[in-house]
Amino acid sequence: MKTAIVTGGGGALGTAICLELASLGWRLAIFDRVEAFAQETIDALNGHPASTHILDVADRDATAKAVAEVFAANGAIDALVNAAGGAFALGVPPSDFIKSNPEHWNRFIDVNLYATFSLCHLVAPYMKQAKSGGIVSIASGAGMRGGPPKSRQAGAAVYSASKAAVIAFTQALAQELGPFGIRVNAVAPGRNESRDKPFAKMLEMLKQEEQAEAGSGRLSPLGRYGRPADIGKAVGFLLSDKADYITGCCLDLTGGIRLH
Ligand SMILES: NC(=O)c1ccc[n+]([C@@H]2O[C@H](COP(=O)([O-])OP(=O)(O)OC[C@H]3O[C@@H](n4cnc5c(N)ncnc54)[C@H](O)[C@@H]3O)[C@@H](O)[C@H]2O)c1
Repeated sequence: MKTAIVTGGGGALGTAICLELASLGWRLAIFDRVEAFAQETIDALNGHPASTHILDVADRDATAKAVAEVFAANGAIDALVNAAGGAFALGVPPSDFIKSNPEHWNRFIDVNLYATFSLCHLVAPYMKQAKSGGIVSIASGAGMRGGPPKSRQAGAAVYSASKAAVIAFTQALAQELGPFGIRVNAVAPGRNESRDKPFAKMLEMLKQEEQAEAGSGRLSPLGRYGRPADIGKAVGFLLSDKADYITGCCLDLTGGIRLH
């Protein structure tokens, strides 16, 4: 059984990713800051092989220790999914850029960016030794085109910049690690559920946004909003052999709401 580390595995998207990977036969190592969230995913996995590691992914020492534990327990780290983050989890209050607090910028950089570098840096040596591996980082549609000006996304400008950096990092790392059989990709979800924004709340927010800016809360051309399972399926695909010629890509998972 192959082993995948999923950071933020207790989150809305992280849970869906874990469930999809479990259905594809992956053993899971869930890295999350909140024990209760990680436990909910363990419960949802219903006995499927999985471990939890409670830590802040921006804490290099704690993360290094947990990565070493996963390798020691399983003899391999075959995949990494960087899904920790989310505006609510970062504790950054919503704000226009001009009014934003510079101290809050660091939270986006620490979790969205530094932790992505750090996890990749820690797992890549194991993958290089095994001559195979897969990495998928959760970027965002906001990283492909910049968050909309009237977005209710907390700190949209800095968030967008951190996610754009994740995409460029993915492209560069894919070139560096490809010769060792390691594929590195990203996905860019659009509006989706999160822990602080379950489906009903997401619909309410979209209605408000539509009132403030016509067209901004519209449905995907596919006639629905995104679901966490959409992200899970895409990550499962990118880590599978079916994607064995795909590296350095950022898969748009916005449902075609904004094409570029
Ligand atoms: N949900 C969306 O609409 C959406 C859209 C685009 C991109 N994303 C991205 O997808 C990722 C997951 O978002 P989500 O919607 O599932 O969020 P969420 O709030 O539902 O879950 C985030 C999870 O990450 C964990 N986490 C946060 N900071 C952490 C840290 N420092 N160390 C360890 N664990 C930490 C939280 O405890 C939580 O379990 C994020 O990177 C987010 O930016 C989400």
